[in-house]
Amino acid sequence: LAPVYSLYLMRLEDIKKVLVIGAGTMGHGIAELFSMSGYQVYLSDISQDILDNALNKIRWSLEKLQEKGQLKEDINTILSRIKTIVGLNTIVSDADFAIEAIVERIDLKRQIFSKLDELLPPHAILATNTSSLSITKIAEATKRADKVVGMHFFNPPVLMQLVEVMKGEKTSDETAKLTYDLAKKLGKTPIMINKDIPGYVVNRILGEIISASCILIQRNLADYLTIDSIARYKLGFPMGVFELIDYTGIDVNYHVSKSLEEYGIKSPCVTLFEEKVKKNELGVKTGKGFYTYPVPGKYNKP
Ligand code: NAI
Repeated sequence: LAPVYSLYLMRLEDIKKVLVIGAGTMGHGIAELFSMSGYQVYLSDISQDILDNALNKIRWSLEKLQEKGQLKEDINTILSRIKTIVGLNTIVSDADFAIEAIVERIDLKRQIFSKLDELLPPHAILATNTSSLSITKIAEATKRADKVVGMHFFNPPVLMQLVEVMKGEKTSDETAKLTYDLAKKLGKTPIMINKDIPGYVVNRILGEIISASCILIQRNLADYLTIDSIARYKLGFPMGVFELIDYTGIDVNYHVSKSLEEYGIKSPCVTLFEEKVKKNELGVKTGKGFYTYPVPGKYNKP
């Protein structure tokens, strides 16, 4: 007998298969985290090369965790739970939970959500890892706005403890609670944000710090190293402000600043980021940003 999904409230234990869309900086780490927690994972991106690269990064990260004695299973068992998929097709139609981590653009995210709505079973929850965009607007591309939610991991997802769960206007309490509990099951400390506000809470706070730093640079009042030294050695941050921007990707920060402009939040960093993006100086991923990294894609403390 087919279950009547509209009446069916999913429980945490019903989530068995997870679809991660986007295998970049965040997506590969999110896939790693889910597979480490025993979930079957589909990892989707636009080319097999990107997916192979993501699998290599996951293996590298698992090796590091193994060296520190933090893995409960062997690496190949964890990797065997990840299936890579180019594009999105009916193969993923048995996923119970999807999380999207593609580029921070509302038009592209809405296309993905519309496709997910078509492909995934009615009970499936559709989450986005967006840093700044409106959950309500993303949910409008689907016919299941009650099951669309923000699940915001931080970089790198395997190590960062916080997860921000964000509700859109129509997200049901059950969906938000299930996502919150899922984050806990992954070993994280979630926070619940009940209002769909641009940038949510974490990036609103971080945005202020980054903005203040950009103003100091633009007025020639301080240099990157001075600001980063203060962040690290006075404020106790694990990384400097510009080091963090290099680490997360200057392009990502640029898109976040631009999307916040649409909500009337002006960032003094846009010009600075734009200059770097034009030169393809995107940070760790291209080997040069505010600092230089001898091996592109590999972070080293500046
Ligand atoms: P990224 O640029 O490293 O990766 C995005 C990936 O999505 C790329 O591999 C790209 O090929 C893929 N992609 C693009 N269109 C696609 C499609 N139609 N189907 C499947 N894959 C597609 O971006 P990153 O940094 O991983 O960011 C992803 C999301 O996570 C963004 O919304 C960003 O704002 C958010 N985020 C980023 C953080 C960071 O530190 N980089 C932190 C927290 C959230």
